[in-house]
Amino acid sequence: MNKISLTRYLVEQQREHGHIPAQLRLLLEVVARACKSISQAVNKGALGGVLGSAGSENVQGEVQKKLDIIANEVLIEANEWGGHLAAMASEEMDSIYAVPNRYPQGEYLLLFDPLDGSSNIDVNVSIGTIFSVLKKPEGGLAVSEQDFLQAGNKQVAAGYCVYGPQTTLVLTVGKGVAMFTLDREQGSFVLTQEDVQIPADTKEFAINMSNMRHWDAPVKRYIDECLQGKEGPRGKDFNMRWIASMVADVHRILTRGGVFMYPWDKREPDKAGKLRLMYEANPMSWLVEQAGGAATNAKTRILDLQPTKLHERVSVVLGSKNEVDRITAYHNGA
Ligand code: AHG
Ligand code: MN
Ligand code: MN
Repeated sequence: MNKISLTRYLVEQQREHGHIPAQLRLLLEVVARACKSISQAVNKGALGGVLGSAGSENVQGEVQKKLDIIANEVLIEANEWGGHLAAMASEEMDSIYAVPNRYPQGEYLLLFDPLDGSSNIDVNVSIGTIFSVLKKPEGGLAVSEQDFLQAGNKQVAAGYCVYGPQTTLVLTVGKGVAMFTLDREQGSFVLTQEDVQIPADTKEFAINMSNMRHWDAPVKRYIDECLQGKEGPRGKDFNMRWIASMVADVHRILTRGGVFMYPWDKREPDKAGKLRLMYEANPMSWLVEQAGGAATNAKTRILDLQPTKLHERVSVVLGSKNEVDRITAYHNGA
């Protein structure tokens, strides 16, 4: 079989559709290279001294793990010198990171959750990196946080890399979703699935059930109906999965369908949700839509939300279209 590397895929996409300029291709290749090194660090585990807490907190008040910080540094070091970026933003940095003056400035903005699923690092369960690429708005000299505050429908590329039994990079540039598996012998990402499609119906849901007592009525209604199985209004049995790494849960949904929810709940009523809009919900929502699924904040399409701040949180419902539509309809009073 003639293996198609990520490089070849990007070159051929550009030739066919003309939507991946050289700078964007460089950016995506650099992100993929960074993911390879994060994957190496993850694989070493205790032998590499990368497990455990770093003893610091991020802007969201979460304790940072050593790997959160390592992954953040790997992504910054890999991306700052290439001339393709104007600035980066990360879950692990309070404010944006402008490309230092000593390097040329590019026209793209890169956002990332360097290590998603931090609570799974030390227990050897799948974790990942999520990224989103925007174009810096024209005009204006110095890059600012304001430049990043663009709706998800403005993304020019988005993806994630899941570090599990295999390391898989999943990417969209707006022409469907492609998956690449890391070939460790060759050291390169090889195309293993194209035109990924999420089935519209499913019998599998993902939600942290321990929060049930804090949920809003429409979420309770939906899950309750699923739990009633064959005997209930849905007339079928449902299965439940919750990995507690959004990357791994979304990867399962892209592979065999399902619905994922991290809704608003009463624990912290002032926060829209737990997950972050710009570097978790937006890239994942675009991937899911590109694969024929849907993504809402339980009321409206996530990709149409206008962000007001970098670390904004959002309620998330995504996956198989008919289930997402149903949950959204329950919230809109249906
Ligand atoms: P992060 O590790 O980047 O902070 O993200 C963790 C997120 C997400 O990956 C996952 O779906 C969710 O938090 C898990 O939340 P619970 O701890 O409530 O299960
Ligand atoms: Mn995360
Ligand atoms: Mn994270």
